[in-house]
Parts: sequence; C-alpha cells; structure tokens
Amino acid sequence: LTFSPVPPASRIHTYLRISLTERCNLRCTYCMPDEGVALTPTPQLLTSREIMRLARIFVEAGVTKIRLTGGEPTLRRDITDLIRQLSSLRPMGLRSVAITSNGIVLARQLPELKEAGLTAVNISLDTLRGERFEQLARRPGHKRVLESIRTAVGLGYDPVKVNVVVMRGVNDDEVADFAALTRDQPINVRFIEYMPFDGNVWSDSKMVPYRELISRIQAAFPYTPLERLDDPAGEVAKNFRLWGHRGSVSFITSMTQHFCSDCNRLRLLADGNLKVCLFGAAEVSLRDAMRGGASDDDLRAIITAAVGRKRAAHAGMFELAASANRPMITIGG
Ligand code: GTP
Ligand code: 5AD
Ligand code: SF4
Repeated sequence: LTFSPVPPASRIHTYLRISLTERCNLRCTYCMPDEGVALTPTPQLLTSREIMRLARIFVEAGVTKIRLTGGEPTLRRDITDLIRQLSSLRPMGLRSVAITSNGIVLARQLPELKEAGLTAVNISLDTLRGERFEQLARRPGHKRVLESIRTAVGLGYDPVKVNVVVMRGVNDDEVADFAALTRDQPINVRFIEYMPFDGNVWSDSKMVPYRELISRIQAAFPYTPLERLDDPAGEVAKNFRLWGHRGSVSFITSMTQHFCSDCNRLRLLADGNLKVCLFGAAEVSLRDAMRGGASDDDLRAIITAAVGRKRAAHAGMFELAASANRPMITIGG
C-alpha cells in the first residue's frame, strides 16, 4: 500500500507529523488564541501504544520521516521512550525521527533524546531580543531557547533549523540579525510567512512576503551574494546561503507561493484525528476507529480514503483566513 497516487499524482505521502500533546509552555500570539484552547481530556488522547500502532502502519505504507510536534512535544512524559520505539521502525524503512520544539526545556532532554534516536531538531525562535520574546511568547524563557539551540549544535545536529515566523511591525526588523546568525554556525534560519489559523488574528498586512524578506537581506549584506541552494525533495523551504556563511537561510512561502502540488505530509493529531492538509477542517478519527476494534486493514482503508479526499491545493490566503480550521496549537505546524 502506498497512499498514492492521489490528485495530483505527484504527491506521495512519505512524511508524517505526529502531535504528541496540545499543551505548551509558551503562549505565542500567532499560535495560541488569547482565550487559550479547551484541552482534549486525557482519556481521549492517543496512548503511546496507539501512536506506535499507527506509526507502524504508516511506515509500512511508505512513510520515511516522522516529526514529533505539539503543542510542545517535550511536555509529553514518555517522549524518550516513544523516540526509541519509533527508531525501531527503521528496518521497515523509516529514515528520520525529528522534532519541532520551542526550546524551553529541550536543552536538558536533548542528550537523552539523541541517544534514543532523534535525527533532526527544529527550534522555534521569533526574536533575538529578550524583552520582545516575552511579548510574543507571553511567557519568559528566551535564554533557555538560545541554550537549546547551542546544545543542539553542540550535539552535532547539522543544521539546526531555527523557525522564525515573520510579522510586520512585530519582529521584521530582525531579519538581518537572524541572517547574521548563520555566519559561523551550522544553523539554518527559516523565515516563515505568517499563516492564518483559528484565533490567531492574522491579517495580510502583518504577513511579510518572502520576496520582501530576500530584498531586505540583500540590502543588509550588500557585498555578500545570496546564493540559491537546492531544495531537497519534499521539503517546504526555499534555501539560500549568504556567500561564505557556514549556515543557510530559507523561506517557507506558504502564503505567497504555496507548494501543495508536491505535498508529502500527513498529520496525526494528539486526539487521534488524521488531518490530510494543514488547512481545512476535514479530519477523520483514527482513535475512534482503533477503539471501535478496527483491524490494520480497516485503518489502512480509512487512511487511504482520507488521503484520496485531500484537496489539490489550499484555497488562497484570504479564503483560509475566513474558513474554519483549528487553532495552530492543536495542529503542531
Ligand atoms: P523539515 O522536515 O526540517 O523540512 O521541517 P518542516 O518545515 O517540515 O517542519 P517544521 O515543524 O519546522 O515547520 C516549519 C513550518 O513549515 C511551519 O510553519 C509549518 O506550519 C510549515 N509547514 C510544514 N508543513 C507544511 C505543509 O504541509 N504546508 C504548509 N503550508 N506549511 C507547512
Ligand atoms: N504561521 C506560520 N508558522 C507558524 N508556526 C506556528 N504558528 C504559525 C503561523 N501562524 C510555526 C512555528 C513552529 C512551526 C511548527 O510552526 O514557528 O516552528
Ligand atoms: Fe500540503 Fe495542505 Fe500544506 Fe498545501 S496547504 S502543502 S496541501 S498541507
């Protein structure tokens, strides 16, 4: 079984993002609604056994990369054990077990996660200024995030990806400072176009198109050419390097130049829903199917049908902003 071909036929779903929890130790404005979110009661969240059963089915079907997200995935107590169990799926074709974290408690856990088999680390950081961090994240912790980035670099993750959601009038004056981080460090700074989700008060005027970001970087480094690098298949970023820099800068252009036609991603949410597209409310509960006694074959059929209903492309930023989805915190990116 492969979850392809689905329209467009080029889309082969080799990448599964698993949200381990809806909880987070930050309250970033672009992710968490002001009023917070109603957390799914614990008995309705997937257990580790259920996650592992589904992960195995997905890997058997051709998934080669699993990314753990949240909320904040490090808040799940059994994360090390899960990474260890996921790593045991390597002989079946899994190549990568990655994490996307806010870096608040990651530094302390990282040696153990690496030992358990974690292959790649992405850390979210939207500002290099301490006071600004607290406005954006509505919690303290800036130094701890920086420490997590240093720890990840020190453990040999190369590159460590740093995700920066750029918002006009909020942190767009730091684009050059972030780019400068790549001079001597194996860091890939990824500027992300601000995307609309339920409760995150998105507006197009706050979204900074990536072409503008490129111009700003070129203006800040007038004597340093910005070279285009290859974009590995199935990744969402457009990659560049400032000439001579150790690291790289990338742009995730979800809003101004979507990459839906070769989308390879599926999402398993903490409550057991399968979400075939980041945008759109169509979901199917694999938890209910499993708890209702579904066999592996039944689950494969449900998954295949859901993937078959995936839209060819998202509806464009204004429609997305107007249509129902979920708050980002319960999707995990
Ligand atoms: P790599 O595996 O290192 O390429 O990471 P990633 O970009 O897949 O994952 P990460 O969690 O670091 O996400 C970075 C940004 O890309 C987030 O803002 C995600 O919401 C966005 N992103 C990830 N997958 C998709 C997708 O399928 N569609 C869109 N539109 N955005 C995505
Ligand atoms: N727009 C763009 N990216 C977002 N992320 C969270 N919310 C948004 C949004 N509204 C990013 C975070 C994290 C990744 C999983 O998704 O920065 O790094
Ligand atoms: Fe894939 Fe949907 Fe993202 Fe497009 S918007 S790249 S279809 S997840």
